[in-house]
Amino acid sequence: MSASGDARASSGVDPGRRLRVLVVNGPNLNLLGTREPAIYGRETLVEINTGIAARAAELGVDVDFFQSNHEGALIDRLHRRDFDVAIVNAAGLTHTSVSLRDALLGIERPFAEVHLSDPATREPFRQVNFLEDIAVARFVGMKAAGYQRALEELARRWAAGEIAPRAVETGPDESEDDPGG
Ligand code: DQA
Repeated sequence: MSASGDARASSGVDPGRRLRVLVVNGPNLNLLGTREPAIYGRETLVEINTGIAARAAELGVDVDFFQSNHEGALIDRLHRRDFDVAIVNAAGLTHTSVSLRDALLGIERPFAEVHLSDPATREPFRQVNFLEDIAVARFVGMKAAGYQRALEELARRWAAGEIAPRAVETGPDESEDDPGG
């Protein structure tokens, strides 16, 4: 076992367990296909997710998908912590949301940052990025292929024991809508 292979062992994860990936897409990504296709491509989010699911099956990885136009809904979904690693395209929230950054840090799940375009080469306001320094990998400017590359990279690192959730336990739903929980 490599030194980095300690990550999974020390987190208490059964080494034989399948990797569980959550793919999170933020605001306006439900419009992919028709939204500024010269920038984001012509694939719809359903088509992108179908491709990810097919690749996940080949890799022996479990995958779940979540898209929302609402910052709080994205944060609540992350708080469920029912996954080992995430692929996150936070869309415009990448450039604005301290709260989403805090959520990604708080849940202690490694994540890969994906953008269909390369925000760093676009308008100055997209060059502010609240997620890039806390992502374990980044895939930008590859359109839909970036999600596939992210999945492959996370699966590779998982198999090598290089990445693991830091807190294995998934608690009850900790959202504020459930004060009794
Ligand atoms: C995006 C880039 C963001 O700047 C933008 O706000 C998006 C999409 C991308 O995938 O290229 O909504 O995240």
